[in-house]
Amino acid sequence: MLKRTCTCGETRKENAGEEIVLSGWINTYRDQGKGLVFIDLRDRYGLTQVVFDAEDTTPEVMEIGASLRREDVISVKGIVRIREGKPNAKLTTGDIELVAKEIEVVNRTAKLPILPDDHDADKIGEEHRLKYRYIDLRRPKMQEILKLRHKITQFTRNFFADNDFLEIETPLLITPTPEGARDFIVPSRHQSGQWYALPQSPQIFKQILMVAGCDKYLQICKCLRDEDPRADRQAEFTQIDLEMSFVDQDDILEIMSEFASRLYKEVGGIDLGELPQMSWKDAMDNYGSDRPDIRFDLQLRDVTELASKTEFKVFKDAIDSGGTVKAMRVPGGADKLSRKKTDALAEVAKTYGAGGLPTVKYQGGEFLTGVAKFVTPIKDELVEALGLEDGDIVMFGIGSYRVACTALGEVRLALAKDLELIPTGAFRGLWIVDFPMFDWNEDAGRWVSEHHPFTAPLESQIDILESDPGNCVSSGYDLVINGAEVGGGSIRIHNPEIQAKVFGLLGLSSEETEEKFGFLLNALRFGAPPHGGVAFGLDRLVMMMIGTDNIRDVIAFPKTQTGADLMCEAPGEADPKQLDELGIIMREPEAATEAK
Ligand code: AMO
Repeated sequence: MLKRTCTCGETRKENAGEEIVLSGWINTYRDQGKGLVFIDLRDRYGLTQVVFDAEDTTPEVMEIGASLRREDVISVKGIVRIREGKPNAKLTTGDIELVAKEIEVVNRTAKLPILPDDHDADKIGEEHRLKYRYIDLRRPKMQEILKLRHKITQFTRNFFADNDFLEIETPLLITPTPEGARDFIVPSRHQSGQWYALPQSPQIFKQILMVAGCDKYLQICKCLRDEDPRADRQAEFTQIDLEMSFVDQDDILEIMSEFASRLYKEVGGIDLGELPQMSWKDAMDNYGSDRPDIRFDLQLRDVTELASKTEFKVFKDAIDSGGTVKAMRVPGGADKLSRKKTDALAEVAKTYGAGGLPTVKYQGGEFLTGVAKFVTPIKDELVEALGLEDGDIVMFGIGSYRVACTALGEVRLALAKDLELIPTGAFRGLWIVDFPMFDWNEDAGRWVSEHHPFTAPLESQIDILESDPGNCVSSGYDLVINGAEVGGGSIRIHNPEIQAKVFGLLGLSSEETEEKFGFLLNALRFGAPPHGGVAFGLDRLVMMMIGTDNIRDVIAFPKTQTGADLMCEAPGEADPKQLDELGIIMREPEAATEAK
């Protein structure tokens, strides 16, 4: 066997005359005729041009050289020489070529279902790319992503090790940790009829590590949530997970801001600038989102009071039932937004719960089209409140506070795309703080946690925790970059009585609390330090740095929208013997659905 002496990315002019052995995949192949064959040999490190020249090598080597095809794996021994023609400036090895003397075909490739060329990637259906992931991952772009991901995890480990964090693993087979999604469950063979849950995050374990005196914890961990995948969401994803003892919110935001800024700068070459703080209320009020994209400046204004002076039934009905009217000024929108576009934006508003998107143009000092007739009586006040200028459009978000804000906030984002308001290459991040503790869930008829049930109220809010839970502000925080939630965390409850109260507010009886979280409450009873932490989504960090909207681009072996791994064909059927051992009887899916 020919053993490689260097990689395909490292030979230079200075190596001319040396004998080397390269191993790799045939990237391109050109038979020039007249006893001259050129290949570009590829490995993770680069490409080197190899020449099979009848004048320099044996007929046997020439014969093998002429039989090679793309993606065959070979090892080739030869002499490095300076290229005769022009150097190839695109390659780090572009000054030289390897004149083949000896060759070993390590593996011939079957007919290729896809080619690993970057320029092809968009033309090939993603399903094909996922099924033949081992070929797809050979693309230079995919190799770059794997490398970037590695650099991010290396940087993370070093940064936190330098700050005294311990990397500690937590188990995968556990009892449920409520992060708001469905659990994946795993049957126990030893304890028939009992089930493990896979962790939605290591949340409870990292808190218990603080009770155990570990002080600073880090883990780059898998989290598993049985929820529908989205462009930026996978059922199985990775977190950079942290917890610290004897700290307050400022300590955590300080170290995490330094981490994020240095990570973006040192690994991504991106200047994040300052990471300011914005309250949840300001974010909702002005941007209609708890993850505002502040790279562009359209803002929402509350015009409920003004709207109440009109005769517009849609405004009136909403206000009478305690709702809100928000307005957004779109500068120059009168000319830029066709009827078709505003109709499409109304559909966006409807998707987020609004009845529609009343719109009006402001031209020549008058309101025109749309709801002009209704808002003309409040013209002067509205013009002043929104700072309207000739040629603007005004859009209204109407509904409960959250619906009015969110619907118009989503319209804002859609507009940014339509009107190309986001400067290319811009990066803007901020911390969202002062989240509400709870949100009222109409369907469930109870409070649900805005973050998770272990998040502490701000110290100043403990008094109103039970008397006014809807207005109680938590110590939760999220890091938002370019409108995406990159990370989230909180100061935790370290007092077992307060923790039990929060479980109660979430509708858990004391029996349920003991059954589900007795071990956590117990731990809190045995000397829990004040503590808090945060988790960053690793996949989202990588997505942002390479500028993709598709989370599958940054995961070596991702799952499809239906949770399938197309390469290894998971999920699959279980062996009946295995099910027997576990005491599991399969029912037809229809029967299972009916039984729900
Ligand atoms: P949270 O659920 O907010 O918090 O998750 C933290 C971060 O993880 C990323 N993330 C995801 N990434 C890809 N696919 C998903 N399905 C997905 N879900 C979340 C996001 C998010 O900001 N235990 C708490 C953290 C804590 O309180 O310390 C937690 O898991 O970037």
